Amino acid sequence: MTEAGVLLELDGVHAGYGRAAVLHGIDLTVAEGELVAVIGANGAGKSTLLKAIVGLVGVSAGTVAYRGAPVGAARPERLVRDGLALVPEGRLLFGPMTVSENLALGAYGAGRKRKAATAEALARVHALFPVLEERAAQPAETLSGGEQQMLAVGRALMSQPSLLLLDEPSLGLAPRVIAEIFAALDELRAGGLTILLVEQDARLALRHADRGYVMRTGRVVLEGPSADLLADESVQTIYLGTWQAEGDDR
Ligand SMILES: Nc1ncnc2c1ncn2[C@@H]1O[C@H](COP(=O)(O)OP(=O)(O)O)[C@@H](O)[C@H]1O
Ligand SMILES: [Mg+2]
Repeated sequence: MTEAGVLLELDGVHAGYGRAAVLHGIDLTVAEGELVAVIGANGAGKSTLLKAIVGLVGVSAGTVAYRGAPVGAARPERLVRDGLALVPEGRLLFGPMTVSENLALGAYGAGRKRKAATAEALARVHALFPVLEERAAQPAETLSGGEQQMLAVGRALMSQPSLLLLDEPSLGLAPRVIAEIFAALDELRAGGLTILLVEQDARLALRHADRGYVMRTGRVVLEGPSADLLADESVQTIYLGTWQAEGDDR
């Protein structure tokens, strides 16, 4: 039983790498149509959280439910078919392959979805990031960092997901390019896509999100509407100030 409108629900999730526990009881929900941000310093466990959601790291206790069904044992291809898509940290593109080949791979997991739907998805990706159409025949490795991030997002969108998971899309990019990518995320959200965004850049993430969670050493220490978190004194001091938190080694 889940609340109406809840797409993703984590309940007391413990996870880690072998015997190294990283997440210590995470409760988190994402409702349909929301853009939710998870912020926290480097090493807080944000990437591990996304990996736990898609089953790339083992969940030792608690549950991850997508549309009310546990995803713990689901295989990655199955999750893509069910509408989850992850844009991993570092993008993980196929460098020697062209932009259009990378995008085609994103559609592969969509399996039985019709060809026409894939063509439609490609048209939407091109409308969102016109540079990907201009560079369709270029190897992915010849793109700029920003273009590669656009390609990684575009590839995830090719599976026509209901829930897009993004790991630090701003990492290593120039402000102008970051603005372009976040404008695209706003547009996707306005179009009804549900987004869970992990970011070290707290201000950026909270400015675009409906709600946020603050993680610290594998725990959620604060959560609420983005406006509240942006106004919160402890968030301002630790995550938004000129003063950098310990462990925030950007
Ligand atoms: N593959 C791994 N094996 C063991 N420990 C890991 C691995 N990946 C990350 N960790 C550890 O898990 C903790 C959280 O890392 P991570 O989830 O990457 O944090 P964040 O994404 O917030 O920077 C860190 O202490 C990190 O060293
Ligand atoms: Mg990370």
